[in-house]
Amino acid sequence: MDKKIAVINGDGVGPEVTAQSIKVLNAIAAKFGHQFLFVDALMGADAIDKTGNPLPDETIAICKQSDAILFGAIGHPKYDNDPSAKVRPEQGLLKLRKELELFTNIRPINMYDSLAHLSPLKTKQLEGVDFIIFRELTGGIYFGKRSLSEDQTYATDECAYHTYEIERVAHLAFQYAQTRRKKLTLIDKANVLETSRLWRKVVQSLASKYPDVSVDYMFVDNAAMQVIINPAQFDVVLTENMFGDIISDEASVLTGSIGLLPSASVGNGAALFEPIHGSYPQATGKDIANPVGSVLSAAMMLDHFGLNEEANLVREAVNWTLTHSFVSKDIDPINSYGTSAIGDLIEDYIKRNGKQAATNNSALNASTII
Ligand code: IPM
Ligand code: MN
Repeated sequence: MDKKIAVINGDGVGPEVTAQSIKVLNAIAAKFGHQFLFVDALMGADAIDKTGNPLPDETIAICKQSDAILFGAIGHPKYDNDPSAKVRPEQGLLKLRKELELFTNIRPINMYDSLAHLSPLKTKQLEGVDFIIFRELTGGIYFGKRSLSEDQTYATDECAYHTYEIERVAHLAFQYAQTRRKKLTLIDKANVLETSRLWRKVVQSLASKYPDVSVDYMFVDNAAMQVIINPAQFDVVLTENMFGDIISDEASVLTGSIGLLPSASVGNGAALFEPIHGSYPQATGKDIANPVGSVLSAAMMLDHFGLNEEANLVREAVNWTLTHSFVSKDIDPINSYGTSAIGDLIEDYIKRNGKQAATNNSALNASTII
């Protein structure tokens, strides 16, 4: 299979983690006889520094000509604490989602038995936790009209949804639920918000098309609690843009490290794959960031191409590193491995198909030899 992949390293640790995914994708290509052509593009603070624009036209063009996009991370502290900044790195990502009509963000929340001790929840509460969040990504308050009064004492952000915007993401969520435990939970605030009442109405009316899927509805404030109290109750979660942003970050901590989690943004244009962690500026250039979130995002890309065997091999390789404690500092601060050493191990596992995988720690730049 021939695929053109746009690579947006982005900010902070983005380049370091993305480099591991490219290693892994190259190993997959060599093993299975595929051709992956990588084309670099700029976005975020990096793009502002180099071009003045968080999303240069050239990046949009490269992405539109690609089959998929591999993205690192976005954001820089110099913008975070400056509410009057005219350009912000995040504008690049928001505009790209809109340009490519990537209306669904998919975030799977899986547990790893070997990492249960890292979760803020008790191991017992983690039993059976396996859910996936479908977040609407190109509508709602993120893209509504904004205003700031002339005297700068009054601001508004409009939350708006059309029926068609709800339908298209809901269809994807229902279809995915059919492949799983057949349960869909819509998270909204229908007791207060008109947009949420529209979401409920639309989802209720679609439900009859998916009679095998049971649907329940949950207010977002309760959902925030349920994610902690009883996360095993969720299978497929469907929600609007901002609720999804918040609930998915909350859910990510259940696994023990946000550094492990991948995501896919899909819609009408080339799909985009990125770890859910941010740019982690304190770690930039230190080779300590967890590459697993990015590598598992690359696995989601392979699935998206229909290369399920390849994707499964990548996941198997990642699992192998985790169960053998070849992990980064966020997971084990004492016996940790570098970002690129973990990438090498995953690559090596793929090349060897799991056979005789390297176990010689001293050769792997372990901070401590175990
Ligand atoms: C995410 C991020 C983005 C969002 C930011 C960087 C604009 O937090 O992908 O979840 O809020 O959607
Ligand atoms: Mn977010």
